[in-house]
Amino acid sequence: MATAPTPDPKKPFLSDIQEIRRRARQHIEKGAVTENYKADLTTSIRVLNEALATEIVCVLRYKRHHYMAKGIHAKAVAEEFLEHANEEQGHADQIAERIVQLNGEPNFNPEGLLMRSHSEYVEGQTLADMIQEDLVAERIAIDSYSEIIRYFGDKDPTTRRLMEEILAKEEEHADDMSTLLAHVGKEK
Ligand SMILES: [Fe+2]
Ligand SMILES: [Fe+2]
Repeated sequence: MATAPTPDPKKPFLSDIQEIRRRARQHIEKGAVTENYKADLTTSIRVLNEALATEIVCVLRYKRHHYMAKGIHAKAVAEEFLEHANEEQGHADQIAERIVQLNGEPNFNPEGLLMRSHSEYVEGQTLADMIQEDLVAERIAIDSYSEIIRYFGDKDPTTRRLMEEILAKEEEHADDMSTLLAHVGKEK
């Protein structure tokens, strides 16, 4: 990567405030996206729509698991599934909102949803199966979101921060699932 030129201490930090103001007016209809947007907008929106699909699939899988949880540990685990489903829904909303800010369209089309999603929809038979599938899905999300964060880097710090926040939550989810799996697996 090229090193940034050392800033002239006598000059204002913003390179050319007049020019920035002029450009801001020029494409006013583009909302939050200025000409300074460093990432490739089409790629950014595509990548975010894949993350959106991932979150929706996670909502559906956790919901299914919430309603299907059976057995002695079922109540506590079912509650955890529901909590995760709601948090994944929150992530989906945050991502959709960001897509719109970038002048894109959030893809909520059920057709092709699984193709766009990084994680899978696996129902699982036993409670342990379900927890394991959720753990796998969280681990997939952790990997793919880490890659997305690297893509945005300093080209789009706002989206990067959003995805970092979501990633931290997925890590918590994975940890929750792995703790549950240890309990449920042991007492089976
Ligand atoms: Fe999520
Ligand atoms: Fe998650």
